[in-house]
Formats: sequence, structure tokens, C-alpha cells
Amino acid sequence: MAKIQILPENIRNKISAGEVVERPVSVVKELLENSIDANANKIIIEIKSSGNEFIRITDNGEGMDRKDALLAIRPFSTSKIKKEEDLNHIRTLGFRGEALSSIASVSKMEIRTKPEEGEGTFLRIEGGEVKEVSPWEGERGTSVMVFDLFYNVPVRKKFLKTPLTEGRLILEFAQRISLAYPEISFKYIQDGKNKFLTSGNGKVEDVILEIFGEEFIDNLIPIENEKGDYKIRGYISIPYKFLFTRPQDVVFLNRRIIKNLSVTQAIKEGYSQRLKENFYPFVIINLFVPYDEVDVNVHPTKREVKFHKDREIIDFISTSIKSALDEYEQERRKKLFPKIKENKREINTLKLPLLESSSTYLEKSSYRFPTFLEFNILGQIFDKYLLIEYKDKLLIIDQHAAHERIRYEKLKNKKEKKLIQANEIIFPLIIEVSKEEKRILEEKRDLLEDFSFHLEDFGPENIRITGIPNEFINLDNFSLENLFKEIIQELASKNLKNLEEEILRTLACHGAIRSGDILTDEEIFALIKTIVDEKIPLTCPHGRPIIWELSKEEIDKKFQR
Ligand SMILES: Nc1ncnc2c1ncn2[C@@H]1O[C@H](COP(=O)(O)OP(=O)(O)OP(=O)(O)O)[C@@H](O)[C@H]1O
Ligand SMILES: [Mg+2]
Repeated sequence: MAKIQILPENIRNKISAGEVVERPVSVVKELLENSIDANANKIIIEIKSSGNEFIRITDNGEGMDRKDALLAIRPFSTSKIKKEEDLNHIRTLGFRGEALSSIASVSKMEIRTKPEEGEGTFLRIEGGEVKEVSPWEGERGTSVMVFDLFYNVPVRKKFLKTPLTEGRLILEFAQRISLAYPEISFKYIQDGKNKFLTSGNGKVEDVILEIFGEEFIDNLIPIENEKGDYKIRGYISIPYKFLFTRPQDVVFLNRRIIKNLSVTQAIKEGYSQRLKENFYPFVIINLFVPYDEVDVNVHPTKREVKFHKDREIIDFISTSIKSALDEYEQERRKKLFPKIKENKREINTLKLPLLESSSTYLEKSSYRFPTFLEFNILGQIFDKYLLIEYKDKLLIIDQHAAHERIRYEKLKNKKEKKLIQANEIIFPLIIEVSKEEKRILEEKRDLLEDFSFHLEDFGPENIRITGIPNEFINLDNFSLENLFKEIIQELASKNLKNLEEEILRTLACHGAIRSGDILTDEEIFALIKTIVDEKIPLTCPHGRPIIWELSKEEIDKKFQR
């Protein structure tokens, strides 16, 4: 029984039309999607000369009878939608009935296909014309082979990139689709060589292992969350691993590979300060959203999609990522640091100078750590890193980054609770500013007041600072002036999305211990204790890591023990 029908004109007009076959990878994409829609669980992808010589996709899916196979290569022929309403909740990857006919019209194609019941069919098509139809003996499933792509449209060939690039695009696509469908076994053969084979056992981590290797999987965190009808599942990279200057998100929406700027943005938001500016993490996420809340019919190659409730989905993605990262860090913290047993009296007698200011360093003393602490402070190296031995690990802590993060969290907390207190300075600081800067300062005066900076007018090209936040009372005038100049710059820059955040970071940075500062053991202890107790994120507010751990094993390995 024929399942495929030609879509009536009124539906055709509602389908986002355009160029379906732009380059070899488009062919691979369309054929693979057809195999998936045909419920295959084994798919073989073969490519010769970056798809230039041939592309062959073989599946063990439902197959087609002769009548369907002949219909399939005609324009607007599909088994996937029947009526206009179907367009509102598309569950299959295909729905336009355009792919096979478009590919057939710009190549030489051979189709071998056989349904569960009945005989198989061989078709040979050239530039869209059927040249041969004959019976075919074989297993259930379909194999489509495309030779000489664009042989009859040489201009299209001119727009192709180098074979190397086209080949890479195909490989990347095949990898992505394998990640999206771990329950399907994909085999990828390039120029006669096996490139990868996934097991089809349904476990994404096995696919990641096969495609990217062990180092990758070790640096990914699983993520899973559900809210109402929304679901998210996948893997995201540890904040300071795999930093890319371009978005590296592999995102599947209802198992369709998509590119969507707001999703990329949501991912970044989820990492927020855990990433350096202009860097992107590596993520593989599967998003599940009710079919009627997305429109996949907005782009000819279906690459782009539209969400009806954009904001909700974005928030869902970013909070899911954020809580996965929080949880991961919490676990890591537990592993990195010993549980400090409650011993209030001793802890309370500890002076923690770091928490208030960085300039009142204690003299290096014969200070002894309370014995309940299981870590050993080895000391400071290069005047900027702290070395800690804990169980079978060596921890290296960036003193500036760590203190910066501690200060940031404290300031942020105080700011939120409106607890930042102003301190009048006895000798007000006079700073030279341009007219433009002055105007900006005037405009942003309220914001500065919120941070407890008090300024006064002082002639046309000067301002006078009469009050500063308590936290900075120990800064000398020179440092204070530098800090203020940096804040002016931030106020003036137009493309800063979140000024307040930026100012917080600057404030956190300025009063923090610098590299070059010599710390006493007591201060080191206080710093580590705060990291443990306050559950601060393990990156500085600019996204740099604050801790690096080296296991005994790794060290032994270096010494070939
Ligand atoms: N590998 C396959 N196995 C079984 N049936 C297939 C296969 N490939 C194509 N078909 C059938 O041929 C029809 C036409 O395929 P085609 O890719 O041109 O359109 P589509 O998948 O329906 O929509 P789209 O143009 O959006 O991909 C499909 O609807 C399907 O019924
Ligand atoms: Mg299709």
C-alpha cells in the first residue's frame, strides 16, 4: 500500500521553501534524516572524496515498495504530513517532501529499497529523470547513493569550499547526529576507511567516548532537569576546560540539530562568570519542548527554529546549566577539602585579616594550625600560588583569583542587602576628568551612590571623592584613583550589558591580594577556610580557575614510578 502522497498546493505554499541542497553535507543531512524517520537502528554513511565522488547512506529502516519509491523522488511527495494542521506539530525530521527530489535533480542517484513485505526495487535516476527501474534482492531497508553532485549545475560547484572543508563539515554533521541518536548504531566510512562506529546502545557517554575520546568525557558534567513540559539532558564542559572562541554547542531540540542564537546565549548565561569573557564552553544538550511550541518550518534547511515562548525556554536552559555547575562544584569542593570538624572555639580565635582588608598582613609567625585540619600548607611559590597538600593531592591555588572571588561574593551579598557602608575620607581625593566623563558620572551618580561612593563637583574638570565603600579604606590614594578611573571607563563604555556586575568585579579585583603579596600561613589558612566555608565558585569572577589539582598518581607518572 502506498504511503506517500503528493502534497496539495495549499500546503506546499505554507512550507518554507528555498535551496535544500547547498553542499555535500546537505545531502548527507537529508538522507540521514530520512533513515532516522524510517525508524532505522543501523545506518552506514560512506563518503568518497569529500562527497564529490559519491555519498551513500544505507539503513535498515522500513524501506519502500516500488510505487512509493517512484513517488518519493517527485517534488512535494511525503508520507509525513497529510493535512495543513499537521504542520503545527511536526514530529518527524522531514515534512516537506522536497529532499529526495531536490537531490535527484542535481546528481546521479541510485536507490535500493525493500519494505518488510514484498519485493525490493532498484532505481537509477539522472538529473531527476528515472533511467532504470528493476527488481532488487536485499534486506529490508534503503540505500541511497548519490554520485557526481552538481554535475549538471556547475555554478553551484563553484560555491563549494575546499574538499577538506566540505569533508570536515560532513564528518562533523555525522558526529552530531550520532550524539543525538545514541540508540542508533552509526558507522562512518571515509575513502574506504572506518572513521567511527557507535554501538547504538542508547548511552550518549559511549558515543562521546567513541567520537571525542576519554579526555573529553572526563571533563564533562552530566546535566538533567525537568520543568513542566520542558526537559533538558546532556553533558556540559567543566568551566575552565575546553574553552573555545566560538560557540561549540551541539544542541538538539526534540532530537533535531538546531542553531539558535538565544539558546547559545542561554548557555553562556548559565555559565555566567564561570567563563572568561569571549569564551564558550563545549556542551551537548538535548532539549525537549512540546511540539506545538516550536516552529521548525521557518528555514529551508530547517536549521533554524522559532520558539513560541522564547523567554521561558531560555531561562529554563540557563538555570539548568547553572544548577548543574553549582552541584558539580559543591561535589568537587567536598572532594578537594577535608570536612572541617566543628570546633568553634578554635576557629573563632582565628583572626582572618584577609576578609576585611589585604593590607594588614601579619608578620610571618610561628602560627600552628589546629590539628583537626587535615591539609598541610606547604607554602607559597612565585609569590602568587599557594601549595597545599591534601591526602594524595597537591593543590595549587591562585591567591589573587581566589581572594578576588571571595571578595566578589562578599561584596555582591552586601550590595544585595544594601549593606555596603560608606566611609568618609579625611582628605578627599580630587580626580581630573573630561567634560564627557563628568557628564557620565553625573548621569550614573545614583549607581555610584548605591556602591557608597560619594562625589562632589569640583570645578569644570575635576571631581572630588568624599566617601568610599568601607572595603577600600586601606587603599592608598594612588590605588584609589586607579580604581576610580577604571570605574569611569566602565561607566563610559556603551556595550557593557550589566554595569553593576562589571563594577562589582572591578571592586573585587582592586582590593584583592595581588600576585607578589607575601602571605603568612595564617592568612593562607583563612583563605582556604573561606573557600570551603562560604562555598564560593571555583573560578574567579572573570572565569579563571582558582584551583588546580595534581594527583599523586600524576606526579608519580611524571617520574615514571
Ligand atoms: N530511507 C528511507 N526509508 C524509507 N522511506 C524513505 C526513505 N527516504 C525517503 N523515504 C520516503 O520518501 C519520502 C520523501 O522523502 P523526502 O526526504 O523527499 O521528503 P520528506 O522526508 O517527507 O520531507 P523533507 O523534504 O522535509 O525531507 C518520505 O516522506 C518517505 O516516505
Ligand atoms: Mg526527508
